[in-house]
Amino acid sequence: MQVVRAAFSDDDRDGQEEVDVVTETWAMSAAPDDLELIAIDDDVIVGYVLAGTGDLGGRSAIAVAPLAVTPSRQGDGIGSALMNELLRRAEHAGFPLVAVLGNPAYYRRLGFEASGPLGIWYRPVGRGDLHFQVCRLSRYDPSHRGEFTYCWER
Ligand SMILES: CC(C)(COP(=O)(O)OP(=O)(O)OC[C@H]1O[C@@H](n2cnc3c(N)ncnc32)[C@H](O)[C@@H]1OP(=O)(O)O)[C@@H](O)C(=O)NCCC(=O)NCCS
Repeated sequence: MQVVRAAFSDDDRDGQEEVDVVTETWAMSAAPDDLELIAIDDDVIVGYVLAGTGDLGGRSAIAVAPLAVTPSRQGDGIGSALMNELLRRAEHAGFPLVAVLGNPAYYRRLGFEASGPLGIWYRPVGRGDLHFQVCRLSRYDPSHRGEFTYCWER
């Protein structure tokens, strides 16, 4: 959990919100086994990614929250490696898509696209917001649409 707190701490925030996301996802047993990964270097955890189950228009769907890399190791490719492995596993598990709320400039290169044109939205940021994105996997079809809610929002 330290890596999550450190990654999301700055002058204005202490990372508690993201730590709460992890503990609430765990408490709800909403973290599929294969979709929670850590990156280890020299016995130290330097990266973490978690995808939890949510709801998309009345059907189960998954979203990443959070993706975190320890500040001193950011920019080394760890976040991309974690996300690419998570997407590979989500594809293998048969999920149609993976959602994420984050910076489009970062997630676009990992295969994510704006969710709005696909008819998918996240109410807290509003329809058409470019930060709520999805990565379509091979099982995707256009019937996967509607409002997304995270497990802790149900
Ligand atoms: C965002 C984060 C997960 C990226 O992981 P990372 O291991 O540092 O990133 P990678 O090494 O895989 O990729 C680095 C590239 O992404 C870019 N990048 C990193 N964070 C970015 C961000 N928040 N927005 C846009 N681009 C970003 C870097 O500029 C770099 O670009 P370059 O290759 O052109 O130099 C990590 O920096 C982090 O934990 N940040 C703090 C927490 C956070 O914002 N998490 C994401 C929530 S959506």
